[in-house]
Amino acid sequence: MATTQEAPRTEQDTLQELARRHLWMHFTRLSAYAEHEVPVIVRGEGCYVYDEHGKRYLDGLSALFCVNIGHGRADIAQAGADQAKELGFFTNWSYAHPPAIKLAARIAELAPGDLNRVFFTSGGSEAVESAIKLARQYFKFSGKPNKTKLIARDVAYHGTSLGALSATGITALREPFEPLTPGGCHVVNTNTYRLPAGMTDADLAEAIAHRIEFEGPDTVAAVILEPVQNAGGCFTPPEGYFERVREICDEYDVLLISDEVICAWGRLGEWFGSQRYGYQPDIITTAKGLTSAYAPMGAMIASDRLAEPFLSGTRSFVHGFTFAGHPMSAAIAMANLDAFEREGILEHVRANEGPFRAMLESLRDIPIVGDVRGAGYFQAIELVKDQDTQASFSDAEAETLLRGFLSGELFRRGLICRADDRGDPVLQLSPPLIAGPEQFEEIEAVLRPVLTEAAELMRRSQD
Ligand SMILES: Cc1ncc(COP(=O)(O)O)c(C=O)c1O
Repeated sequence: MATTQEAPRTEQDTLQELARRHLWMHFTRLSAYAEHEVPVIVRGEGCYVYDEHGKRYLDGLSALFCVNIGHGRADIAQAGADQAKELGFFTNWSYAHPPAIKLAARIAELAPGDLNRVFFTSGGSEAVESAIKLARQYFKFSGKPNKTKLIARDVAYHGTSLGALSATGITALREPFEPLTPGGCHVVNTNTYRLPAGMTDADLAEAIAHRIEFEGPDTVAAVILEPVQNAGGCFTPPEGYFERVREICDEYDVLLISDEVICAWGRLGEWFGSQRYGYQPDIITTAKGLTSAYAPMGAMIASDRLAEPFLSGTRSFVHGFTFAGHPMSAAIAMANLDAFEREGILEHVRANEGPFRAMLESLRDIPIVGDVRGAGYFQAIELVKDQDTQASFSDAEAETLLRGFLSGELFRRGLICRADDRGDPVLQLSPPLIAGPEQFEEIEAVLRPVLTEAAELMRRSQD
């Protein structure tokens, strides 16, 4: 008797099924995978990752701005394994261990000015959360207890924990969780491609002074800004912006927090983004590239002035996270920074950011490419309906363009980058810092035909 036999289930089938049933992917429409495969990445090497079918992708986003040194580094993994054998874990709550001590000293040495005190965290949101709490407690100790508010910029992303979320300026991420921690205020960002009517570049920093005046200087604790703002698509600061922001912060006794979760560790060709733009923050928050994400780790780096009130008597910063300063992460961060120095990674980024940018600029002849902006290995292309008028796409059109076409098509052709519409629609490219001309050519070979097709698709949809 003839029987119809089902094909045997493969390991991939099982992973797909288990992912759909059990894995809650972050910031993800789970419904999207009802009909499409969940992308399962299994291996990485250099600038490339491989999926479960063995297909190779150019990781044009460094796994979310993280894997700065590149994938698959056995030496960095080994540093973690060696440390785990020696001391797998001990906490930084009242105790220290050599990896955290040595890493704190190394970070202090690299950080600008007197940012000498390093408070470790497990990631970026925790670093931002720590900075907000330090600002508040510092002012309580300094006889200015009403200084609690935080000024951030429109469309900026500073993390998702409730404190950090009050700094995040993206309505869609805030609205489901209202009411947020009080005190988060927002001002215009440095989108110089779309300056608000009547504003010049010089007014952008002044907006911060106006907001401090509006709120009352006695109530404002800190301003939090990224050197180059990620969300919205790599907004760089205009000439003189940070110099003026620093003056404003000094004038009103407001702390300047430089959120460098992305912009540190070579992403802009310097150890810290603030060094590229020549300003001195009171606090730097960082994560991601510190370990090139071979293990989770973040840090809040505070100035001597901010640590000073905590150095005497019964006072302490009443705040902490169990895993912060994890010895394995700290050992991995040390190995990562060793590799940066040994291999001249900062110099490599400085030497290659010009050709990287030039390749992206060369796409400007495609009708959908409106603006190209960014710094270092952190660049974005803004997509527009009309290059001359800079008209942007409606929400529905952006949905068709980004989710309906670009994200899937770029991935299908082997390029991982970010199609983002938290502000106006952009494509972001932020490859591992070891990328060079060969990878830039590959990126262009995918972007040019896909963007040309996207422009045609959008033109037809408007007919
Ligand atoms: C500037 C900035 N701040 C904070 C965060 C939050 O970091 P994490 O996702 O590690 O909590 C991010 C994440 O991308 C970020 O880009």
